[in-house]
Amino acid sequence: MRRALIFMVALGAVAFAASGQQVYQQYCAACHQTNGKGLTGAFPPLVEEAPEYAAKGEKGIDFLIHVVLFGLQGQITAGGATYNGIMPPFGPQLSDEQIAAVLDYITKAWGNDERLPKDFKGFKAEDVARERKKSLTPQQVYAEWKALGSE
Ligand code: HEC
Repeated sequence: MRRALIFMVALGAVAFAASGQQVYQQYCAACHQTNGKGLTGAFPPLVEEAPEYAAKGEKGIDFLIHVVLFGLQGQITAGGATYNGIMPPFGPQLSDEQIAAVLDYITKAWGNDERLPKDFKGFKAEDVARERKKSLTPQQVYAEWKALGSE
């Protein structure tokens, strides 16, 4: 009985981890690529970049949630290259759970987990639900990017 329960909990954890990757493959990989490296000049890399925002504390974490919920538009630099594209908003088609899962995936995949602060707690659906209420524009999310002083 107890063993069966532990087994089910372990299976659930695997299913959750897999779903972040699935969301990524379905909704993000076309631009940011399966290896997270993006396409120089067109789509910024998430390798090394995503945990950098997570390491900036609450504002950086909220910025990541906002990019996926509301999109991003404006000139940015990432991994030494300049981007001036449009990231479409995914708030309308993805649930709070899916957005939390995909953010967990991009901050940890491709060796990014080694760059995360030790006390990083990951993303929760409740965090996404709270931020969703802000209904920002892609330009407002860009203002947050500038305020973070990112590279
Ligand atoms: C249609 C192409 C496209 C898709 C699909 C897409 N993105 Fe983006 N993403 C972009 C572009 C372009 C930018 C940079 C926008 C700019 O220049 O202001 C960006 C920026 C980002 C950033 C900020 C990077 C930085 O260094 O500041 C993150 C994080 C991100 N995307 C995550 C995701 C996730 C997660 C998904 C899937 C849910 C996704 N993107 C889907 C095109 C895309």
